[in-house]
Amino acid sequence: MKALILAGGFGTRLRPLSCTRPKFLFPVANKPLIDWTLENLSKSGVEEVVLAVNYKAEELAAYCGESRFGMKILYSKDEELSLGQTRRRYKALGTGGPVKLAEKLLGDDDFLVLNGDILTNLNYAELMHEHKSKGGVATIALYSVEDPSRYGVAELASDGSMRITRFVEKPAKGQVASNLVNAGVYALSPKIFDYIPEAKHCSMEREVFPRLVAENMLFGYGFNGLWIDIGKKEDYLKANMMVLDSLQRQKRLESPVLMGENVVVEEGAEVGPYVVLGDNVHVGKNASVKRSVVFPGVAISDSSVVEGAVIGEDVSLGKAVRIGKNCIIGDGAIIKDGVTLARDVSVCPFKEVSESVFKAKCLM
Ligand code: GTP
Repeated sequence: MKALILAGGFGTRLRPLSCTRPKFLFPVANKPLIDWTLENLSKSGVEEVVLAVNYKAEELAAYCGESRFGMKILYSKDEELSLGQTRRRYKALGTGGPVKLAEKLLGDDDFLVLNGDILTNLNYAELMHEHKSKGGVATIALYSVEDPSRYGVAELASDGSMRITRFVEKPAKGQVASNLVNAGVYALSPKIFDYIPEAKHCSMEREVFPRLVAENMLFGYGFNGLWIDIGKKEDYLKANMMVLDSLQRQKRLESPVLMGENVVVEEGAEVGPYVVLGDNVHVGKNASVKRSVVFPGVAISDSSVVEGAVIGEDVSLGKAVRIGKNCIIGDGAIIKDGVTLARDVSVCPFKEVSESVFKAKCLM
């Protein structure tokens, strides 16, 4: 499956930070927005991504390179208009023009198009599946919001077919009888290229979708979950907070917890209360650390439990290790997978421990 990401907008509403970086490299919870999108596409089985670039194209290309998250990355750059020797500007093609421009790169199979400034955990594979089953020219991912007036709003046929009978971009209050809005993600059939003019500005929302509605060729796909357009500064802040909330839920951090620099806590891990993690500590999936001090550089592998212990610098705890109360582990020690050190066990520096110990003891 192929996807095109619209990633050429100027991001004027995020100035002045967008004067020095494209919107897609804005960090969301310390990870560039584009990586959130690419990672989710890769999980959905996308193999090739076309980045439709324009403003600050070079910065984006320098970051993404030729492949990312196992997917091939291609670039399609909006046409360049030369305005003299010293000044260059790019023609804005809008949300439809870049799709037409990339026609040859997208091939002759159905493909996805995404606004690049959306943060979502939408299941792209499911969207594509629904699109193919309906047989329309386009299927728009639809998200339910309280106030639809800032978005493109879709009204659906009453027969349950998910056919869109009306699409209104930024409607006035009361103009539409729906709160399902265009989430900025579409599955498209190659027939779409017949609806977009060549080499000029075209708005998918204002020009293409209304025509498809008139021909009964536009469908919707409703979804719940995480979705936010980071285009405005309030929403950029909100997106960070939404991710922090979901990370907190996934990782179950219980205060008080103090973490150093570059600490990684994987999904499902529980950290706290009363835990100090030094710099560069890694806590693996479903691991648990409570009432402990963990020195810098420690690796705690998946499903390990550390409770009431002191773990020295650069110690490596294998998978499903248990370190109990009052244990103290010397720097650089290696505790192998599945080992339990029940309580009051001291381990000398750089010692390798491959058998469990259930009584108070010093391992030399
Ligand atoms: P503002 O200037 O703040 O309105 O942001 P924007 O320019 O990004 O516009 P908007 O949020 O409406 O764009 C929706 C999506 O289309 C974003 O992912 C943009 O990057 C992308 N986009 C908008 N215009 C163009 C364009 O002319 N070329 C390309 N390649 N992408 C575009």
